[in-house]
Amino acid sequence: MIIGSKIKLREKKLADALNDYTWQTDAELAQLDAAPLLTTSFSQYLSTYASELRYPSSIGHRFAIETLDGRHIGNCGFYNIDEVKGEAELGIMIGNRSYWNKGYGTDAVTTLINYIYQQTDLKHIYLKTLDSNSRAQKCFQKCGFTLYGRLGKDGYSFVLMELHRKRLEERRPNV
Ligand SMILES: CC(C)(COP(=O)(O)OP(=O)(O)OC[C@H]1O[C@@H](n2cnc3c(N)ncnc32)[C@H](O)[C@@H]1OP(=O)(O)O)[C@@H](O)C(=O)NCCC(=O)NCCS
Repeated sequence: MIIGSKIKLREKKLADALNDYTWQTDAELAQLDAAPLLTTSFSQYLSTYASELRYPSSIGHRFAIETLDGRHIGNCGFYNIDEVKGEAELGIMIGNRSYWNKGYGTDAVTTLINYIYQQTDLKHIYLKTLDSNSRAQKCFQKCGFTLYGRLGKDGYSFVLMELHRKRLEERRPNV
């Protein structure tokens, strides 16, 4: 369990499957995430979900985001870990709309970044988000991410943002 100011991050569990399925079959969330809308049945989804929990990927780590009183509101993680380059990609989604624009995303990203830089040797965290997603960009800026490029892919326009360990250490010398 990793504790932030407004949230805690914990390992994923089977009981998260229904929320995750609900969020992945939500057209607005899929659009904000530039992700395909999930069309499989819940029973098929659950079976794949259970096997992914049993055999987790070694190139990524996923966490559930919970409020401090234990409500599962979203997920975050880091993926595409490249130990040679010392970098990984960060992702986050707060699926429960009641928790948007209240600082939960900023606290989840800050908490995850602190964890990554304390517990791993990674030196560079990057992410991409839709050019049109101003809320996500504002959230990442508040966490210290800066814009380093743009990418067009599959008909979408993304901005690329990054946060180097060195920059975080300059912002918070105790990390
Ligand atoms: C993107 C996301 C993680 C941000 O988390 P959050 O808890 O909503 O964000 P926070 O409240 O921490 O910060 C958002 C900031 O953007 C601001 N904001 C909201 N809408 C905005 C807009 N249209 N333009 C500019 N700023 C905006 C908020 O006011 C807030 O800034 P403030 O704290 O200075 O007032 C979350 O909203 C989410 O998962 N959304 C749905 C899925 C999604 O967008 N996925 C893509 C992620 S890459």
